[in-house]
Amino acid sequence: MIESKTIAHRFGAALGPENTAATLKRAVELGVCWVEFDASLLKDGTVIVFHDEEFDRCTDKTGLLKDATWQDVSQMDGGSWFSPDFKGEPILELGAALRLLDEVGMNINLEIKVNGAEHVELTERVHQIVAENWSGKNKLLYSSFSHEALVHLRKMDNTAQIGHLFEDLPSDWQAQAEAVKAITIHADVDELSRNDIMSVKAAGYPLYLYTVNDVAQGLGLLDQGVDAVFTDCPDAFKDTSSPAGALL
Ligand code: G3P
Ligand code: MG
Repeated sequence: MIESKTIAHRFGAALGPENTAATLKRAVELGVCWVEFDASLLKDGTVIVFHDEEFDRCTDKTGLLKDATWQDVSQMDGGSWFSPDFKGEPILELGAALRLLDEVGMNINLEIKVNGAEHVELTERVHQIVAENWSGKNKLLYSSFSHEALVHLRKMDNTAQIGHLFEDLPSDWQAQAEAVKAITIHADVDELSRNDIMSVKAAGYPLYLYTVNDVAQGLGLLDQGVDAVFTDCPDAFKDTSSPAGALL
C-alpha cells in the first residue's frame, strides 16, 4: 500500500509544531511522500487537524476541543509552544489541510481521532470533507483506534482504504480487521512482540508501527518484516544509508 518505508507522523512532529502547515512545508522540502495526521471534532461540527483532546499542550489557549468552536480555534497560536520561530502558526481546518496536501502531491494517512462518543458525527463529517476537498490523485488511507468509527466508515463507503489502528495487538485483531475490510495494520512499536509482528505478516497484512524516531531501531524493524514506520523525524531517516538506500 505504502511505497515509502517511513510516514511522517503528525506531518513530522520534530520538524515543527505537529499537524501544522509550517511543518508540512518542511516535510515537503525533505522529500517526504507520506504523512499521517489526526482529525478531531469541535463542538460546532468543524473538523480540525489536531491530536490532543485539549488545547493546552499545542496552543496558547486551554480547554477541551469538545467545548470549542472554529471561531475560538481560529484565534489560537498553534506554533509558539514549539518555538518562537513558529509564532502565530494557525491550527488547520481539515478541508483546508486536504487542499494543501493535494496541492503538494502528498499521500496521506488520515487518522480519525475519536475521544468520546462522537464516532458517528466525526466519521461522517470527515468523509464529507474528504469528498469536497480531496481530488483523489494521491493515496488516502484512513485509520482509527475506534473500531466503531471504522465500521461506520465502511458502512458509508465500500471503497475507502482502511488501516486498523491498535496499541497492543488484541487476540481478535484479525476479526476486527476483516470486519472493516482493513488492508493494513498499524500498531504501537512498544507494545508489539516479535511474534505479533510475525502473526500480522503471516496473515498477509502490511504492518506499520508508530512511533519510531531512532533510525537503528527502524532499520531493525524493517529487517524483521515491518513494512513502514511512523516517525517524527523524517530528516533522520532521509540521511540513512542502508542496503535499501534512503528510506523516504
Ligand atoms: O496513526 C499512528 C499514530 O499517530 C497513533 O497514535 O496518538 O500519535 O495519534 P497517536
Ligand atoms: Mg495519530
